[in-house]
Amino acid sequence: MAIVTRALTLNAAFLQEIKEDNRLLRELLAQTSSVFEDLGEGFPPHRDVVDLLWRLRDQLAMHFALEDAYGYFDDAIAEAPRLSQQAEQLRRQHDDLFLQICELVEEAEQLLYGERAEQNRATLAASYRSFHVTFHEHESHENRLILEAFDDDIGVGD
Ligand SMILES: [Fe+2]
Repeated sequence: MAIVTRALTLNAAFLQEIKEDNRLLRELLAQTSSVFEDLGEGFPPHRDVVDLLWRLRDQLAMHFALEDAYGYFDDAIAEAPRLSQQAEQLRRQHDDLFLQICELVEEAEQLLYGERAEQNRATLAASYRSFHVTFHEHESHENRLILEAFDDDIGVGD
């Protein structure tokens, strides 16, 4: 009797489609990045920065929820696939990234309401850049995994 285990794998076609369709997320990231390029005169009112980060957080929530629901799935297989460990790691990272953007929103709110004097634009910008780098690496890793999954499907690289 074969022992069937379940392993996380990815639905490469769906995952790719989610990424290609997410124009709004790309725009919000570009807009946020440009806000943090000028911390002087050109920096928008703090209320607008909080609003922008709220929108980014909500869009990310939707993005991760779609990826979790349609981009990854538990597969019944006799042996764990090669990509399973990476898939597990990447899906888990959605929670970490979401936590990071929530903390960023909190920091921006503290800046707006002046709750923490030491909380200034520069530290908020540094937190955003750190989030952005991690998110970008996550997306690149997922894109590489999508290509590997497609290669596996058509038998390239065997
Ligand atoms: Fe992802």
